[in-house]
Amino acid sequence: MADYTYQELADKNKKYLWHPFTQMKEYQDADPIIIASGRGTKLSDVNGNTYYDGISSMWLNVHGHGVAELDQAICEQLKAVAHSTLFGLAHAPAILLAEKLVSLAPPGLTRVFYSDSGAEAVEIAIKMAFQYWQNRGFTKKRSFACMQSAYHGDTLGAVSVGALSLYHELFRPLLFSTYQVPYPDPYRQGGAVAATGKVLVALETLLRERASELCALILEPIVQGAAGMIVMPPGCLEQIVRLLRQYDVLLIADEVATGFGRTGKMFACEHEGITPDLMTLAKGITGGYLPLAATLATSAIYEAFYADYEENKTFFHGHSYTGNPLGCAVALANLQRFETHELLTVMARNVAFVAQKLAAFAQLAQVGDVRQKGLMIGIELVRDRERRQPYEGRERIGVQVCRRARELGLLIRPLGNVITFLPPLASSRTELDEMLAILYQAICQVTEPVSDDR
Ligand SMILES: Cc1ncc(COP(=O)(O)O)c(C=O)c1O
Repeated sequence: MADYTYQELADKNKKYLWHPFTQMKEYQDADPIIIASGRGTKLSDVNGNTYYDGISSMWLNVHGHGVAELDQAICEQLKAVAHSTLFGLAHAPAILLAEKLVSLAPPGLTRVFYSDSGAEAVEIAIKMAFQYWQNRGFTKKRSFACMQSAYHGDTLGAVSVGALSLYHELFRPLLFSTYQVPYPDPYRQGGAVAATGKVLVALETLLRERASELCALILEPIVQGAAGMIVMPPGCLEQIVRLLRQYDVLLIADEVATGFGRTGKMFACEHEGITPDLMTLAKGITGGYLPLAATLATSAIYEAFYADYEENKTFFHGHSYTGNPLGCAVALANLQRFETHELLTVMARNVAFVAQKLAAFAQLAQVGDVRQKGLMIGIELVRDRERRQPYEGRERIGVQVCRRARELGLLIRPLGNVITFLPPLASSRTELDEMLAILYQAICQVTEPVSDDR
């Protein structure tokens, strides 16, 4: 790769690549950043510029880039075998990782089904929930409920249970229909109590009318990520689970974004001590190294599929690279490092430090809601906080702030008018301080052009 100049790579990038979630016409007008390497919390481009990875390479990275133990785990496994299938065969990394995941997951989740991405883990959970009821003879249970503004990935099943109109609406004719309930948003729904009440009333009404046809409710526990890092009020998730149990409807907890320490606990469900029936995992599972995902199920779910072959209860689902040994090996090393470095304990102190720093952001006239759970942070930009007047979409304020932050050495991405900040979980206090200083400067410079000293 080193043989190519920046310009050659930029030209080939422009000529051959189609980037995700990107308007290529706009992207091609700018000089692309082409990443060459990563160390710790930083990425370097082929021109030698370094940037803090303020979005953990799409919410994945845990211990930083280029971590010796993780690199080594892949190299060791590579010497043995790069890939062997789980279709009828097994291998040690997949077995041992499944054991580890079960030991860490909320009690009662006892089975691990692997796939390659968060969206696939969601597809699998949806199909498992559906077939669970069919296998048990509840043939009328065929529908799903999801939350407003939900995001569960970009494959069609995951899009069906999504509810972000910008990404999902166009595809509506291709999707199965769902029932939607509001996600509790204390900022917009009149505070924590009102937001919780609104959700519970809507959910109970739905359950009373439709429980006999509902397989499951899928939700992003504690934090709704792509909607802008909306944080549930304490106690809400537990009450949602209580209602679902009462009406015999399953819970699918999509922990793709929140799992593996991102919200301050290993899994977000732990904040409320709940066990979902199905739980989806991806992103941080390999520390941000390789694509791997898992859907965890309770024994009750598993047993509904466990039968003589002739009963036709088999779960006919699988992907070629399911449980890839390299991915499983690095996932095991990732989880071991959580323990050896007491990451969640260290992180708790840094989370408090970040909360203190965010207080200063909340004072800025162009900042509305500041949301934080663990190291999952959303800063909403508004034209006028007092009057809660939003920026117009066409102002692209989030894009402008992220561009400026990038010039100052921090890679972040906006979700509309919300700036998302999800640094690697192992970021030191000094690094977090520097990242937040850049972010603060970028917001000030873009939203207050008069005092702009660029
Ligand atoms: C909650 C949630 N579920 C699923 C996904 C999809 O994961 P992937 O991009 O690995 O398919 C995402 C991605 O951001 C997510 O935030």
